[in-house]
Amino acid sequence: MARCVIKDIVNKENSQVSVAGWVHAKRVHGKITFIDLRDASGILQVVFTQQNAELFKIVDAVRPEWVLKISGTIQKRPEKMKNPEIITGDFEMIASTLEVISKAETPPFPIEGSGYDVSEDIRWKYRYLDMRRPRVLEILKQRAKVKRFIRDYLSDRGFLEVDTPILTKSTPEGARDFLVPSRLHPGKFYALPQSPQQYKQLLMVGGIEKYFQFPRCFRDEDLRGDRTLEFDQLDIEMSFVDEADVLKLTEELVIEVSEKVIGKKVQEKPFPRMTYQEAMKQYQSDKPDIRKDKNDKNTFAYLWVTDFPMFEKKDDGSVGAAHHPFTAIHDSDLPKLTDSAKLFDIRARQYDLVLNGHEVFGGSIRTTNPEILTKVFNALGYSSEEIQVRFHHLLEAFSYGVPPHGGIAAGFDRWLMAMLAEPSIREVIPFPTSGSGFTSVMEAPSNVDKKQLSELHIKAV
Ligand code: AMO
Repeated sequence: MARCVIKDIVNKENSQVSVAGWVHAKRVHGKITFIDLRDASGILQVVFTQQNAELFKIVDAVRPEWVLKISGTIQKRPEKMKNPEIITGDFEMIASTLEVISKAETPPFPIEGSGYDVSEDIRWKYRYLDMRRPRVLEILKQRAKVKRFIRDYLSDRGFLEVDTPILTKSTPEGARDFLVPSRLHPGKFYALPQSPQQYKQLLMVGGIEKYFQFPRCFRDEDLRGDRTLEFDQLDIEMSFVDEADVLKLTEELVIEVSEKVIGKKVQEKPFPRMTYQEAMKQYQSDKPDIRKDKNDKNTFAYLWVTDFPMFEKKDDGSVGAAHHPFTAIHDSDLPKLTDSAKLFDIRARQYDLVLNGHEVFGGSIRTTNPEILTKVFNALGYSSEEIQVRFHHLLEAFSYGVPPHGGIAAGFDRWLMAMLAEPSIREVIPFPTSGSGFTSVMEAPSNVDKKQLSELHIKAV
């Protein structure tokens, strides 16, 4: 008999069907045994009685997480026994045959329950078991649903989804790079992208005009609840636009996702806006949580923060870009670029979108004038030689006819975490890196063969 997915048994009353999945739970009540069978679509209660003595004996040996194929008849449950918590809760299966497909060791933690009480390290080591929880599966489904909605939304509005390289050149986004040694070019390295920032700008030079992508980004930085080593962005870039266009598109998209896909209320529309200066003065934070009721998980308080400072002092006292060097400066502040006393007063055409106290999107209008861009690099302390080595390609591209452009990127995982009110970004990532920087299940970083190292011209010290 062909397999019926569990959620579809609601249309099979009084029919004989066959289901397959994992033993979610088993309850023995003397003359009757219940198995809750779980597949990706839901959970079904299966009933075994002593009337079928042989089957009753087989089911005795069955343990949680075994994989079974069970055939039987679908019946309405008695009124008092209905379970509104599960989609098949009005029905149950009276089993007639059972086939053990695969036995299972006792899992290192229970699959029933939310799992929040189990230590993260053990959950990530056995993430493939952790994701058997309906709660985790639900998050993965939401993640896919949001991505799919955004893909359609932007594609319908003329945006082209374009992939960009993973093996690339270091691009300054403020974090440390992950480096990849080259076998073919001894002593040289690729960098994994901290974001596709320069590539998306090159796409604008290439005439693409409206770009988006869900790129994987890599940043070697200290980990926190909403920060991880590798994460996805929703990355957008547009030509012939200014702040108003980028904010409008983003805001419309964000409202649709929040209300239509996630189904929550947005506290205030259009989103309130304040400058960085106002936010710091009023909230002492550049990502204030402006929810009226901070315990309210059902309201999304979005806030635009604009006009960030272009430069900031780094820990070692040197000048750094607050966002990235490609961010444009307000025209009226341009003269300050060559006055080192006024560098930190320069306002960038940068905007962040904050959700309930999390910075979920960040972007800017870009500098397309090579002279101004060179002055920014100078202010950041790059010598003419370093500018040539690191940014020649972009300055050269801009010499071939460059449209004005700007864009934005969401930290896709962080935004999802905030929308689903999850306590950590790792909850919404299929295979997250642990808080101490180990990958799930496979526990990289790990040692490699001496031979591999020597092929890469590398000696570990
Ligand atoms: P930015 O560096 O602000 O901008 O990154 C955009 C968004 O990505 C998220 N984010 C992170 N999420 C998880 N873990 C991290 N380590 C992490 N770092 C950043 C944040 C942030 O708002 N290229 C520019 C965008 C642009 O200018 O268009 C960029 O990457 O939610």
